[in-house]
Formats: sequence, C-alpha cells, structure tokens
Amino acid sequence: SSDKKTWIRQPIIVVLGHVDHGKTTLLDKIRGTAVAKKEPGEITQHVGASVVPASVLNKITEPLKKYFPKLVIEIPGLLFIDTPGHELFSNLRRRGGSVADMAILVVDVVEGFQPQTIEALNILKEKRVPFIVAANKIDRLEGWKAFPDTPFLESVKRQSPRTISILEERIYQLVGKLYEHGFESERFDRVKDFRRTVAIVPISAKTGEGISELLALIAGLAQQFMKKKLVTSEDAARGVVLEVKEEQGLGTTIDVIIYDGVLSKNDLFVVVGKNGPIVTRVRSLLMPRPLQDMRMHEGRFVQVDLVTAATGVKISAPGLEDALAGSPFYVIPSEDRIQEFTRMVQEEVSQIRFKGESDGVVLKADTLGTLEALLEALRRENIPVKLADVGHVTRNDVLEAAIVSKSKPEYGVILAFNVKILPEAEELRARENIPVFKHNIIYQLLEEYLKWFKEFKE
Ligand code: GTP
Ligand code: MG
Repeated sequence: SSDKKTWIRQPIIVVLGHVDHGKTTLLDKIRGTAVAKKEPGEITQHVGASVVPASVLNKITEPLKKYFPKLVIEIPGLLFIDTPGHELFSNLRRRGGSVADMAILVVDVVEGFQPQTIEALNILKEKRVPFIVAANKIDRLEGWKAFPDTPFLESVKRQSPRTISILEERIYQLVGKLYEHGFESERFDRVKDFRRTVAIVPISAKTGEGISELLALIAGLAQQFMKKKLVTSEDAARGVVLEVKEEQGLGTTIDVIIYDGVLSKNDLFVVVGKNGPIVTRVRSLLMPRPLQDMRMHEGRFVQVDLVTAATGVKISAPGLEDALAGSPFYVIPSEDRIQEFTRMVQEEVSQIRFKGESDGVVLKADTLGTLEALLEALRRENIPVKLADVGHVTRNDVLEAAIVSKSKPEYGVILAFNVKILPEAEELRARENIPVFKHNIIYQLLEEYLKWFKEFKE
C-alpha cells in the first residue's frame, strides 16, 4: 500500500583481494576509526558485517570538504561485509547479481595483481558489481614518509619527487593490469566519469592515509548512482545466507545479510537446504554483544525482536541443519503463500543445482555461491555441465562422469571446488581412470581443466 514506510538503507560494501594484501587491516582501521569517532549510543554490532554510520562518515570526510565541496552524506552509513576469502563473496549471490552494492578491491601496491586479485575481478565482472581499487601499503614505497590518518592528497604533497614517481609507476602498472581485464582506470582525483573509469585510491591500511578519501568516494558514488536501488520498506525481509554455523547451545544457525525489508522474531521464512526448501520460523534473532556489555556466562550474542535492512544477523530456527550457504532467504508474508515461495526458491536453485541428460562435466562445490560462480565460468568457456551439486564427491558422481567418459571422454571429468572425494568414490575413480581437478581458486581450477582438455584434443 502507498502509506508504507520507506527509507534509504546503507549500501552493502564487500572488501576483496589477494591473501595478505590488507583486507582485514583495512576493515580493522575503518572499524577502529568508526568506534573512535562514534558518540555513545551509536554502537551497533552486526553479524558478519560492520557499520560505519553517517555521523562517523561526516567526521572522517571533514578534511576533504575543501576538495569536494559538494560532499554531503545522505545515506545512513555503509555496511561493510568482512569476507576472508572470495568464497564468502560468492555466497553473497542474488538472482542475476550480487547482494553487494559495491566492492573495494584491495591490491598491495608493491606486489601488484596476484591470482586472487584476478579471481575477485572475474567475479565482480560476472556479477556486475561496481568497485574501486584500494592501492594499499603505500607506506612501504621507497622513501614514503607517513602522516598518520591524513588524507592521501595531503600526504602526497609532502613526499619527495622520487617517491611520488615510484607511486605513479605502481599505479600505472595497476592501470595496465585492469586494462587487460577490460577496465579503464585512473587515480581517483583524475577520474572524470566514475561510471566509466575505475577509481584507484592509494591508501595505507596501517597508517590510515587515504582512508578518508576511500570512504568519501564510496559514499559519494553510492549516493550518486544507486539511490533507487537503496530504497527499502517495511515489506517482508529478503536476504542471503552467508554462512551456516554450529553455535554452542543454539544448534545450527544461519548468518544472513538482509538487503531488503524488516525481519521479526517468529517470522516464517524459506531457505534452500541440501534436500529441498526448508520452511521454518525465526526462533531468535541474534546480534553480537557489544564489547562494553561483555559479562561472564552471558554468551556472545544478544537477542533482538526485529532488524531492518541493511544488516547482518544470526538466525536460530528449528530445522536448519541442511541449509546451504549462498541460499536466498525470503520471509513468507502469510501461511497461504508457502507454496508460492518454495516454488520460487526451487526454481531459482534449479538453475544452479541440476542433473541433465546431455554429456558434460561433473561439478561439485562447497556452497551454492561457489557452485554458481563455477557454472558461470564454465559457461563462458562453452563447457557443458552434466551434473552440478553442493557437497563432497560421491560414488554416484564418479558413475556419472564414467558414463560421459564413454562417449565424450573430454567431458568425462570431475571438477571439485573446496570439497573432498569420499573414499569409496576415490576407489571407483581410480579404477575407472576418471580425471579429477581440484583447486580453491575458480579460474585456476578451470585453467587446469582447459589445459588438460587441449592436450587431450591433440
Ligand atoms: P587474508 O585474510 O589472509 O587474505 O589477508 P588480508 O588481506 O586480510 O591481509 P591482512 O590485513 O591480514 O594483512 C597482511 C599483512 O600485511 C599484515 O602483516 C598487515 O599488518 C600488513 N599490512 C596490511 N596493510 C598494510 C599497510 O597498509 N602497510 C603495511 N606496511 N603493512 C600492511
Ligand atoms: Mg584477512
């Protein structure tokens, strides 16, 4: 109805990049700055995410007002999702895209592009997630003099010409790499059109230099280009299952990122499970206990009655044992609509988990998100898929590959992402001589298979 309350939610921002390039340090810095600059009473804790409220964004970006006089924070804040690997990022899947509104691709400015940088870039491209590049660790450049927590544009003015030229060279190398992957890019203060050019922000997650520009840019871009997408209302919540976790005393819980609507205790909802849709009711909504409240024997979580988008929340409910990470999460507004919603998720997931008739490879992955990312990568290479599913490689998977192997041996293989081969499956696989490819970086898994494929064809 038209009198429904609506609001603009926080944009959801993911931080991605190669191992050790500084994602966690960057998030810690942002979190630390946010906590330090908060007023009492502004503390909110999230599951799998951290919020930088507008009041803090205003304080952090204050020194930039002279460069960007039009900078006014209109969004309620930024919701950062902590993704320790690209796997979790894959789980932020949403039909036709990603739950992430924007991403920060962290690249060590000294080391440059590395395998997981390329992996992240590929997934960002596939999911059409806008991103900016944080060229991190500028404090490690030869001769860099650190000016802690100052804007990059201030700090760079105080560096020697030689250090500045080293920085320029490194940035130019990043520009080259991004170009190879189909992106125009430029240092952020030289970008004319942010819709066409990826902005590169030199930062140090350690000293805090450049953090204010990074945050200002994300807030600015979100406000300018995605306000419509950020409008949400009192409607039934929608989200995605980021992780499925066993919690002491709570049983199996799901960590969910809610990107739309309102979620209450006792709400009826549907998620995808290993053996089909799971329909159940929220038993409790859990948020991390604020540090200053930490008391003995009270547990790590506090219960809340209601959460609103955008947020991360832990949900405890009966029957979640088989829930799959990467599953869509929908609140069902009334019991008479259960069928409609279970059909909807079933239909969505049948695009990702399926067993077809035609010859193709067998695909096994650890979550719905990684399975979908693998499928998309294979589709780009025109490799047909016979079977795609979540879970360890079973004897039955080997049998499927063996059948394909008889008529199309180049497709009679198993691609396994972050899953094991069960012992009885391995026995059969060795006997039938079915090749298996395993890797925890999607594009490298694909490269290994394609290399084998080519050699096989010769
Ligand atoms: P994974 O979670 O393992 O993928 O790594 P990460 O990307 O989260 O990297 P992390 O933040 O753990 O940083 C890796 C190392 O780099 C740590 O020793 C950090 O202290 C260091 N580091 C991160 N950012 C900076 C920086 O800006 N300058 C310097 N000098 N060191 C940094
Ligand atoms: Mg980390």
